[in-house]
Amino acid sequence: MCGIVAYLGAKEASPILINGLKRLEYRGYDSAGIALLNGGMHVYKTRGKVSDLEGLIEDKDLSGTTGIAHTRWATHGEPNDINAHPHTSPNGKISLIHNGIIENYAILKEELKQRGYVFTSDTDTEVLVYLIQDIYEHEKTDFAETVRLALSQVTGAYAIVVLSQENPDMLVAARKGSPLVVGIGEGEYFMASDAAPIVEYTRQVVYPGEEEIVVVSLKDGLKIMTIAKTEKTPYIQTLELNLTALEKGGFPHFMLKEIYEQPRTVRDSMRGRLNMEQGLVVLGGIQDYTRKLLNARRIIIVGCGTSWHAGLVGEYLIEELARIPVEVEYASEFRYRNPIIFEDDIVIAISQSGETADTLAAIEMAKAKGATILGICNVVGSSIARASHAGSYTHAGPEIGVASTKAFTSQVTILTLLALMLAEKKGSLAASRYYRLLHELNSIPEKIEKALKANEDIKKIAEIFSKTSNALYLGRGINFPVALEGALKLKEISYIHAEGYPAAEMKHGPIALIDAEMPVLVIATRKGHYDKMVSNIQEVKARKGVIIAIVSEGDDNVESMADYSIEIPETDEMLVPLLATIPLQLLSYHMALIRGCNVDQPRNLAKSVTVE
Ligand code: F6R
Repeated sequence: MCGIVAYLGAKEASPILINGLKRLEYRGYDSAGIALLNGGMHVYKTRGKVSDLEGLIEDKDLSGTTGIAHTRWATHGEPNDINAHPHTSPNGKISLIHNGIIENYAILKEELKQRGYVFTSDTDTEVLVYLIQDIYEHEKTDFAETVRLALSQVTGAYAIVVLSQENPDMLVAARKGSPLVVGIGEGEYFMASDAAPIVEYTRQVVYPGEEEIVVVSLKDGLKIMTIAKTEKTPYIQTLELNLTALEKGGFPHFMLKEIYEQPRTVRDSMRGRLNMEQGLVVLGGIQDYTRKLLNARRIIIVGCGTSWHAGLVGEYLIEELARIPVEVEYASEFRYRNPIIFEDDIVIAISQSGETADTLAAIEMAKAKGATILGICNVVGSSIARASHAGSYTHAGPEIGVASTKAFTSQVTILTLLALMLAEKKGSLAASRYYRLLHELNSIPEKIEKALKANEDIKKIAEIFSKTSNALYLGRGINFPVALEGALKLKEISYIHAEGYPAAEMKHGPIALIDAEMPVLVIATRKGHYDKMVSNIQEVKARKGVIIAIVSEGDDNVESMADYSIEIPETDEMLVPLLATIPLQLLSYHMALIRGCNVDQPRNLAKSVTVE
């Protein structure tokens, strides 16, 4: 979703800003723009990609050492040149970039219209920059205070950066509900939606808190105050992000790179947490909450999309191994249905980005009702991580491909560790099964490596089915969420309609869809409901459906029934999702590629969904 970059310093701003926008392209967007201060305010913006913006500014004077830039993911108003950011005040002296939604923009717009202002765009953002000009002219106060006064009239979510022609040595930024990070260099400052555009210049960063305003000035340095006007001491952190993690590393796409990273990322999720010598799982971040977890009335897992699917896998794991009741909720539904929450409930929020607006709002609501919140996030320092009482980072490294791959397997790894830790403390598992599972989990990275070897065979299957318009994914038990995840991966990057179903539900409706044109992907590994899956395969075959089966290695039985099969290594039933997901990710990748889709930036999608 919208990407923000800003620079204040002594260097030429435009290359830093354009490079920064490219680093944020993964977030998803439909237009791009830049504003530079060079005597006057120079604003260039266009519908389309950052490359289109580069084309637009090719022959322009881009000198200037202060500027802001933006990639917009449309909410209010269609993606076009006018609605693109930056938005500029009527007198042309103030420009603003914004990520989020100004919820009361219609009222503010009406008031400003009555005072004679004429708007040019359909956006909520333009209203804010007009309001800032109005206050600046009437209140005659300093610029940072003006922005504060304007924001105190705003409801909604925002990360903004404001550039003022009359205050060329400063930038004013603020955030509420949307992410923002400030980088501190030698006599220069950077601002961005995440650390990706900043890391190549400086590792010293400040993450402003909720409802905080940051003023960076070449004269006075960095200052933070709240919208309520309390001064804050900036907390400077050192980024651990590695620049090579933001590059494709020889792979044609980030998604493929991230699929192939999984042996390492799953290992990284377990590092220091799975102690094979002592036969223990230690999740340091949530250790203090172990008692609470063991005594919890229930665990409620909230998330969206792929993270919600990981939550469903977590439900099977925690209930089966630790025998604690688990409910899994779409964050967007949970937050609005006035759920019954008890003080002895534990809410686990799962989020790769740690910024998903619905998930954040869901945990804020549960926290207000007295629940304990644990976060499973990938992005360190993200809003959900900070809003949680405690949590475990997945340590999968930056995920740039919009379709989530390595984040999912890392989330499932953490949930597996959590289930095992609770099982051991509770004594709910026979010791032999517990130790077998620890050993199996420890060997999963090598098994993922093996599963990746099927890539060339999967590519051939993708070539056969690339023209299909529909696909059905079936799984049972813990592999049902894997079917959902496989279907989501296919639809989001190849635009093929795909549905995931619990295999037994097929006969309650979807079976009507089956014919010789319909590929049916089944997860039919030896462990877990094997005979039942075999029956489901027979039902599909009896209706001339085409079966692509994910099978345990050497399973000639299912292989002889299926039209196509993809082998994965044998493992415990509870760990199959960590392996069965791999070929489904690769299949989606190849299908999308053959169909000419933009694998890393699928249409309409945003990586970090910071509006509800
Ligand atoms: C799918 C995908 C999305 C995200 C969802 C939640 O591939 O990426 O469905 O899983 O938007 O995002 P996070 O995990 O950042 O909260």
